Amino acid sequence: MTFGADGRAGHCILSKQLVQDYFNEIDRLKKFSGSVTEGVISEAFKDLLKAWSRQKNLQFLAQYEFESPQKNRIRPDGTILHDLRVPLGYWEAKDEADDLDVEIEKKLKKGYPQDNIIFEDSREAVLIQNRAEVMRCRMTDGDELLRLLKLFFEYERQEIAEFRKAVAQFKTDLPAVLDALRDKIGAAYADNAAFKAAADRFLAHAKDTINPTLGEADVREMLIQHILTEEIFSQVFDDPEFHRKNNIAHELYVLEETFFTGATRRDTLNALRPYYATIKSTAQLITRHAEKQSFLKVIYENFYKVYDKKKADTLGVVYTPNEIVKFMIDGADWLTQKHFGKALIDEGVEILDPATGTGTFICELLEHFRGQPEKMKRKYKEELHANEVAILPYYVANLNIEATYAAITGQYAEFPNLCFVDTLDNVGGLGIRRGHQHDLFAGLSDENIERVKRQNRRKISVIIGNPPYNANQQNENDNNKNRTYPHIDAAIKSTYIAQSTAQKTKVYDMYARFFRWASDRLGDEGVLAFVTNRSFIDSRTFDGFRKVVAEDFADIYVVDLGGDVRSNPKLSGTKHNVFGIQTGVAISFLVKKGKRAGGRIYYARRPEFDTADDKLSFLGLNHVEAVAFERIEPDINSNWVNLTRNDWDTFAPMADKQTKSAKSKSKERAIFRTFVSGIKTNRDEWVYDFASDALRQKLM
Ligand SMILES: C[S@@+](CC[C@H](N)C(=O)[O-])C[C@H]1O[C@@H](n2cnc3c(N)ncnc32)[C@H](O)[C@@H]1O
Repeated sequence: MTFGADGRAGHCILSKQLVQDYFNEIDRLKKFSGSVTEGVISEAFKDLLKAWSRQKNLQFLAQYEFESPQKNRIRPDGTILHDLRVPLGYWEAKDEADDLDVEIEKKLKKGYPQDNIIFEDSREAVLIQNRAEVMRCRMTDGDELLRLLKLFFEYERQEIAEFRKAVAQFKTDLPAVLDALRDKIGAAYADNAAFKAAADRFLAHAKDTINPTLGEADVREMLIQHILTEEIFSQVFDDPEFHRKNNIAHELYVLEETFFTGATRRDTLNALRPYYATIKSTAQLITRHAEKQSFLKVIYENFYKVYDKKKADTLGVVYTPNEIVKFMIDGADWLTQKHFGKALIDEGVEILDPATGTGTFICELLEHFRGQPEKMKRKYKEELHANEVAILPYYVANLNIEATYAAITGQYAEFPNLCFVDTLDNVGGLGIRRGHQHDLFAGLSDENIERVKRQNRRKISVIIGNPPYNANQQNENDNNKNRTYPHIDAAIKSTYIAQSTAQKTKVYDMYARFFRWASDRLGDEGVLAFVTNRSFIDSRTFDGFRKVVAEDFADIYVVDLGGDVRSNPKLSGTKHNVFGIQTGVAISFLVKKGKRAGGRIYYARRPEFDTADDKLSFLGLNHVEAVAFERIEPDINSNWVNLTRNDWDTFAPMADKQTKSAKSKSKERAIFRTFVSGIKTNRDEWVYDFASDALRQKLM
């Protein structure tokens, strides 16, 4: 069972290797058991399909059930999906004892797809594409099997090809459409009184609920995102009216209808028609609700990156893989039971996702509660909360959450607890447990304001999610700084920074702000579960953070997923990082238990060179309870890893903040009193160069 001498297959060494591995595996098993059953071959073939799929960034699903056009439930042995969650092809294994052709006939009658499917009985494989048999071969013939598999994996559905073409075209066409839309909105501001009045009203409300620093430019942007994406949602979900009912969408429709109708609308969006049309035809191939959700996530990321790359970066527009979401929900459930004797579904356990994106955590929570309809209904109406600050994900979350609830219960019900708000600005609920609620919204009665106020009145017990973690901008020229948050930043200063010995600190990172906000929002007890940047585990600037959380929380569990490409250039973001990014990632669970703090820290690290797939399947297969954590005793400098056990801290420092600011000599302990951080231009790209001439040119 090997390849012939023909070099044709040589141009794709990896694929050839995969087929060779398949033969080797069969030989190995034969040596053990003396014979090879069809079950063994089938398992080895499944592994071959899985490995090939992984190599091409496709997903292999075993026994994935769906409905055929004849309305039969069918379940091929393998289904291979694109990243868009549209099927690439199928595999069906039959018994050796059966007649393969008769079995194929039966399956096709039942409605098995005929666009790209392999049938095999461990001796012979048949490939059907576009309703016709295109190839058949002995499974022991390496070259032929390789050829068949290549035809199978290279098959490209027309819809996918068109979708990819449309996305590329979208990138080209969008800027002109954006300019046209901006012009139209500018003209409406200038000479359309009805529009102007509606826009002013909308801005006043937006300032009050979402974020007080919003201005006219933000209204323009929200309107643009709304107009560009409303079509997408009506294409993906069957009910075009679906999100008209939403309170924020309703306001934006009112605004839109004052200036953007009929021919103006048609002409402006004309260039994007092909994009919308292909989204529609691609979405039609997706049969299951869960797959639609995944499809929307891809659209969410893709769209945002084309629409506004910088904003996508500061907001952290990236969806959370399902394995992570499920692992965190199971973990939070275990912890609330262990520490507070209540499961997530129990009454009184209110759960908040403060940066909900596409609403994955809430959707997965609903899935988690499946089978307990009455309790789930109460949770949905009363005790599940989510916030989002950008209009596009807010819409996606709204649609996803309501559609998930409808899919599970068979009934549509509005999700009343999704707030369009900047979580970090919404400090109304902080301190609620200590009896002084800040009232930001006196006198306003908009539905979104009501929702935010209602959320702020609740005692939140679990905060779970994937907050943004853009660690400042990469380059000063990006002009992409995160904004400041006076209340939260002051809290960071008086805690994480006050406790830090680092000379300079970047703890105003978005993810640290979310940790600060969430710690305060939980009040005296509860569970915080975040997936974030992993830098808090070992970075010098987070020493104060580590000290404070270890004092505030009773139990801390950290699963370090690594993948920090900057600290280990041998890693690749796409291959080793669970989000496909350069920044390392960690999942943390922090349990707050009133005054009984005193931080027991448990730490587990996944192997440095595990691939993203390995890490995700680890999370998919394991429960946090079963993870082999190591108990950590921080050292005197609040290090959690790379502990130092030495007496260097007893030595006089060269320079320190305390000496620099000391009012009297007796308070000085460092050798030097003054220190500065040297020359810093923050414009390196412009004021440094290897050649003086080039530098002079830049400065002119
Ligand atoms: C990493 S994504 C969340 C992904 C989500 N779990 C999913 O799978 O779709 C972070 C989200 O938080 C939102 N966000 C960022 N800053 C926020 C803030 N201050 N308040 C509320 N939401 C915020 C972003 O717009 C983005 O959609």
